This record gives sequence, C-alpha cells and structure tokens, in this order.
Amino acid sequence: MQPMTNIAVRAARAAGKIQMQYLNRLDTLTVAKKGRNDFVSEVDRACEQEIIQILKAAYPGHGVLAEETGTQQGNEYQWIIDPLDGTTNYLHGFPQFAVSIACRHRGELISGVVYDPFKDEMFTADKGGGAYLNDRRLRVSNRKSLDGALIGTGFPFRDHTHLDTYTEMFKAMISETAGLRRPGSAALDFAYVAAGRLDGFWEIGLSIWDFAAGALMVREAGGTVSDLAGGDKHLQTGNVIAGPLKVHTDMVRLLRPFLHADLRA
Ligand code: IPD
Ligand code: CA
Ligand code: CA
Repeated sequence: MQPMTNIAVRAARAAGKIQMQYLNRLDTLTVAKKGRNDFVSEVDRACEQEIIQILKAAYPGHGVLAEETGTQQGNEYQWIIDPLDGTTNYLHGFPQFAVSIACRHRGELISGVVYDPFKDEMFTADKGGGAYLNDRRLRVSNRKSLDGALIGTGFPFRDHTHLDTYTEMFKAMISETAGLRRPGSAALDFAYVAAGRLDGFWEIGLSIWDFAAGALMVREAGGTVSDLAGGDKHLQTGNVIAGPLKVHTDMVRLLRPFLHADLRA
C-alpha cells in the first residue's frame, strides 16, 4: 500500500470510530437539513474535521474537497472526502454506511479508501497497485452478461428531475437481471462491485465524493466505470455505470434508449 493510502486508512479508521461511538445514542444527535431529504449531523461534521486534520498533518500542502466544508486550495494533490456516506441509513441505525477518501494528482485518481466501520471492512486501492479488502486482493465478478446478475443502484430521492427516466431504467433492468439492490451508500456499492458482491451498479446524480474512491477501486479490481453513455464524464456529471466489462457493456446498451440529452454523459 502506498504511503498516502496508508494515511487515508488511518483517517478513515478514526472517522469510523466516531461513527461507531455515536451509533448507540442516535436520538441525542443534532441533525440539520441541507435540502430536501438531505441531512447532516454532528457526526458527519466531526468525522470530516478528524479526517482533514489527519490528512493535513501528514500533507500540509495538499488541497481538499470535502462534502461538508468544501474546498481548501493546495498543490497538485487533492483529497476528496465523504466523511459519512449513507447518512440517511446511519441516522436510522441501518448498518450500511462508510467513510470515503480519495486522492487525485493533477486530476487523476491515485488512491482510494472506503471503510465500513460496522463490519470493519477496509477497502483500499492504489493506481496501478490493485484493490484490496483488508489484506485480500479484489477482483470484479466474472459474470459475462446481465443474465443472473445482481445489480446495485441508487434512487434519485433528492432531485426528482430524472425520476421518470430512472423508473423506466429500473423497469428495464428488473426484467433482465436476477435482482436489484439499493443499499444506500454509493461508496460501498462501488466497493462491492470491486469485490464481486455486486455484478454492476448505476446511479444518476452522484457527487464526486460519493464515488471517487470507489471508481478507482472498481478499475483496480479489473472493472469498467463510465458515464451513462459509456464515456468518461462520470466524475463531472455524477451519472455513472460500473461493472465487469461485459456486464458494463450490457448495461450501457440497456439504458441507452432512456438517455435524454442531459443524461448522455
Ligand atoms: C448518498 C449515498 C446514497 C446515494 C446518494 C448520496 P450521503 O450520500 O451515497 O447511496 O444514493 O446520492 O448522496 O448523502 O449519505 O453522503
Ligand atoms: Ca455521500
Ligand atoms: Ca456524506
């Protein structure tokens, strides 16, 4: 594991510890609303502060892009942080949430960490160095088509602009696969694709911190990540498909008829 990923692992563990400490007293948490169905708690904020402090202590010159506190300018390295991915799950005590930390160098993803503190599963990836779950090397599933595939997704529960389109996609996907899952943490969904637990994943309207680490992880596990049209704009648009090459190709083909102009990236 590269030194930067090692530091990110330390930061993710520290944040995961905070999440676990508060899990038994969720009813005492102060929760604020950022928008429709968009909540932030003192746990999100405390985790983000802890992560940034650990990363900055090791790399004072690096820049930061973090969900709750925004951008801090820096050198050619930038940390992309989701301190608590799956806040809605977390606030309900539904045990599917994670810390996500990625690093970009001159715009290219080089390091990614996704940590599930409830299961104590640490997913890591280094550009060119593969993806791991704890000490085990990860590989995407070897499924060759949508037939029999278990596919993950996320619902557009905040921004309803594409709700009808999404529903059409959902119907098409349901008829072609063995099952769909909506676990509620995009960071973990990508990690699960990397681990072969899901055969594929798609979602509309993610933010970069939801899946920057996960996208590198899927690639390093031998999978393909793209925007909905099969192009490379996913980190900008947040519209994304991920999976082993053949499943990914089938998903792009299946979803193509539903892509209005603003989703063709
Ligand atoms: C959310 C989760 C969810 C996805 C949403 C994200 P948050 O992140 O990743 O799975 O469907 O689009 O915003 O708000 O819990 O950090
Ligand atoms: Ca998130
Ligand atoms: Ca979050």
